[in-house]
Amino acid sequence: MVSIPTISLNDGTWFPELGLGTYGLRGDHGVDAMVSAIGTGYRLLDTAVNYENEAEVGEAVRRSGLDRDELMVTSKIPGRDHGHREAIASIERSLQTLGLARIDLQLIHWPNPSVGRWLDTWSGMIEARERGLVRSIGVSNFTEQMLTRLIDETGVTPAVNQVELHPYFPQGALRAFHNEHGIRTESWSPLARRTELSSEPAVQQIASAHDVTPTQAVLRWHVQLGSTPIPKSSSPQRQAENADVFGFELTPDEVDALSALERGRLWNGDPNRHEEM
Ligand SMILES: NC(=O)c1ccc[n+]([C@@H]2O[C@H](COP(=O)([O-])OP(=O)(O)OC[C@H]3O[C@@H](n4cnc5c(N)ncnc54)[C@H](OP(=O)(O)O)[C@@H]3O)[C@@H](O)[C@H]2O)c1
Repeated sequence: MVSIPTISLNDGTWFPELGLGTYGLRGDHGVDAMVSAIGTGYRLLDTAVNYENEAEVGEAVRRSGLDRDELMVTSKIPGRDHGHREAIASIERSLQTLGLARIDLQLIHWPNPSVGRWLDTWSGMIEARERGLVRSIGVSNFTEQMLTRLIDETGVTPAVNQVELHPYFPQGALRAFHNEHGIRTESWSPLARRTELSSEPAVQQIASAHDVTPTQAVLRWHVQLGSTPIPKSSSPQRQAENADVFGFELTPDEVDALSALERGRLWNGDPNRHEEM
């Protein structure tokens, strides 16, 4: 079993340096995949209302046999549930679907600026935290400007901002802002969904220099940037491969060589324009 190190969030809660993405893991196969990941050492499971697999995540938590406090379950409020009361009701529905008494990290999935209710959603999440429905609160796909407004107007800094981040889109400026404000960066699609990233010469060279796979080199890059990657895999072998990135270290030049693959967002997910309900 792999031991995945943890860090402390700005509210004092522990948080793994690597977790499991669960988008697309559904049904019995999905539960089996998540139970296998927990058996491998994963402690962070990333779901969302819109992944329609919260029931599977809850089932995997129960089947894992682990103490509830050893696992960190993240869920996300969808755009259609924005608003103070709506956010609390959304969290209550998630808890029911998960079959759990608490969500460990609750995020706003997308800011949806044309709806203009993310500040109200955030205040609902603050109340949900006070009521013990969730332990930590954060956001996803928020820009520096949105984070600044959120902090200025509510006085509550998100614990996490989960954003698109991989060597094609390293998010240097946003990560610097997060570091300045004590916000933990979390990388979604950390493998760039395996597009052509693993065959990039820079990735292959660095992987062979450390006798690891291209995927492991990329995930190690995330860890050294100080961002928690949440690679999704349905295969126990690939889950084990992905978690096994804590026994080697990239040089600063190697980190820079991977960051130099930058070319921008891959899926047009600019949070100022892209909206999801
Ligand atoms: N907040 C947001 O807006 C947002 C947006 C997108 C994603 N997410 C979260 O981020 C998670 C991860 O992102 P993602 O699923 O889009 O992409 P990803 O983790 O970058 O890539 C997943 C793909 O890579 C394959 N893969 C994983 N490990 C591999 C390995 N060692 N060797 C070869 N192939 C491998 C998987 O296939 P197999 O399953 O067959 O191994 C799958 O096709 C999601 O599951 C979700 O939880 C959040």
